Amino acid sequence: MPSALPDGEPMPEDGALPGHALAGAAGRPLGFYLHVPYCATRCGYCDFNTYTASELRGSGGALASRDNYADTVAAEIRLAREVLGADPRPVETVFVGGGTPTLLPAADLGRMLAAVREEFGLAPDAEITTEANPESVDPRYLAELREAGFNRISFGMQSARQHVLKILDRTHTPGRPEACVAEARAAGFDHVNLDLIYGTPGETDDDWRASLDAAIGAGPDHVSAYALIVEEGTQLARRIRRGEVPMTDDDVHADRYLIAEERFTAAGFHWYEVSNWATSAAGRCRHNELYWTGADWWGAGPGAHSHVGGVRWWNAKHPGAYAQALAEGRSPGAGREILADEDRRVERILLELRLADGCPLDLLAPAGARAAARALADGLLEPGPYDRGRAVLTLRGRLLADAVVRDLVD
Ligand SMILES: C[S@@+](CC[C@H](N)C(=O)[O-])C[C@H]1O[C@@H](n2cnc3c(N)ncnc32)[C@H](O)[C@@H]1O
Ligand code: SF4
Repeated sequence: MPSALPDGEPMPEDGALPGHALAGAAGRPLGFYLHVPYCATRCGYCDFNTYTASELRGSGGALASRDNYADTVAAEIRLAREVLGADPRPVETVFVGGGTPTLLPAADLGRMLAAVREEFGLAPDAEITTEANPESVDPRYLAELREAGFNRISFGMQSARQHVLKILDRTHTPGRPEACVAEARAAGFDHVNLDLIYGTPGETDDDWRASLDAAIGAGPDHVSAYALIVEEGTQLARRIRRGEVPMTDDDVHADRYLIAEERFTAAGFHWYEVSNWATSAAGRCRHNELYWTGADWWGAGPGAHSHVGGVRWWNAKHPGAYAQALAEGRSPGAGREILADEDRRVERILLELRLADGCPLDLLAPAGARAAARALADGLLEPGPYDRGRAVLTLRGRLLADAVVRDLVD
């Protein structure tokens, strides 16, 4: 959840949605994202909406405190029940993300999940994920999460190399994320993800190979590998500007992506989205698939975004303002957008083209269709799916995904 909020129209105080947003809801899956906006320390590259204890001191008062947080989120889940009214859908996925969810006691994450269960009910095979920082969990904590109903866990590994972790300001030691995978398996988690970052200043191809091998060797069924984004306003951006650390270039990112694809394929992982690989269809992150396929999700927590039937809204960013709204019985929504059909078409192309299933060619406007024909000729789209009416990126296309997407949305 990056920290900047978009502009939009104001949100009604009661959070009510226009009637058309709920039309046809029964045919769409529903998920919940629960944001936990707290971290022990801030990593220099991170632009997410998260706060350390010292950043919160003096702003937001007791309302912004971690101690009350699970109850505040439960209040938003009750509001969601009122807004969605008689909507009978059970929840297919819950994803607790951050920030560092595992800074809260496991019982608090359990209370947030229980609120979803009580208000909406969970589908029998619901996917219930939490993110976790490797240094913040132990076998007992993991057992408590399982007890509360979590069945998937995502650890922020980032790298296996100490000097890379240091540039990223990570506080865990090499080896700890792999141990976390073993502990999560022993606790009974069905699905385990490791997040990796490539292209960190000072990282070599060999460092990246070592990170991939360590991650794969730990036995997760899912790995996300992200190119480091140097976000404006972060400590890392300032360090690069001052010349203290070098900037990594796009060619390095492309080389690292190719190394990742080669290592993952050899180990039996398949890409299903440009930055995501899984060992089987069951290992895919169903929650992220909801985002990528335009389903409905309610994002609870400060700065969280939601989408229901073509209406997108976002919450007040600061934990104090967020909690204040709920304490006063108001929606914490800060603004919203009602997406026109054209916006939804463009959004579908942006998201679906990054998937291994690709996007239907008949979504494209005439200029986009011409760009797709050129991309096919340039080896950026797969010929077989193209002949069957779908735009699916080749490996070279994945390296240039942002540029291909830009051309196809024309
Ligand atoms: C929202 S973070 C929260 C997870 C958890 N707090 C952690 O850091 O392990 C989720 C993932 O986003 C990725 N990420 C965050 N900032 C990034 C950046 N600037 N560039 C690339 N990936 C980033 C990291 O891989 C991280 O594990
Ligand atoms: S621990 Fe995760 S969310 Fe927190 S600052 Fe670091 S990357 Fe961001």
